Amino acid sequence: MKIKNVVFYISFLLISSIFSITPLLANEGAQGVVKERMDKFKISKKMMQTIHKSIQNEDFETIEKSATTLYNWSKEMIKYFPEGSDGAPSEASADIWLDPEGFKKAVNNFELASLKLINNSKEKNFDNTVDSFRSLAGTCKGCHQKFRN
Ligand code: HEC
Repeated sequence: MKIKNVVFYISFLLISSIFSITPLLANEGAQGVVKERMDKFKISKKMMQTIHKSIQNEDFETIEKSATTLYNWSKEMIKYFPEGSDGAPSEASADIWLDPEGFKKAVNNFELASLKLINNSKEKNFDNTVDSFRSLAGTCKGCHQKFRN
């Protein structure tokens, strides 16, 4: 690498690290919890893809395991939405805090649907498992329509 390129590279690193650190310092708590819940939702998406694939393979054990991850997330989701944790880069709607009962209900629907999927996959009942997977996906969508910008 030419010296000029090295200098350019180092200053690029410095500048990008300053830009990525500043917002963390400006609002450390909110950034932290917003990032954490985004990660949890990314995992949720992965779990739904895994369940979809496992239904095709009739792999009920994997379905049960992934549904349990979603169930556990439903039990702690509320904690990841402290008041005031909306605003860019978050896509959380202010309605979460304007209508806390409605949000709780959406979380509860998600919890019950994941529990149903756990039970149906335990029973290895294919049709019921497909049904409860569809309902579970409906609770993701339902909450996004109301509470995600
Ligand atoms: C009770 C409400 C609720 C439920 C249920 C819910 N979500 Fe979300 N989801 C949200 C909110 C609010 C956000 C925006 C979070 C933010 O940006 O701070 C979000 C964001 C996301 C994101 C984007 C994450 C990112 O990187 O920015 C994905 C992907 C996602 N959800 C997938 C899912 C899937 C899959 C399910 C169901 C298995 C699900 N969600 C269930 C409310 C919900």
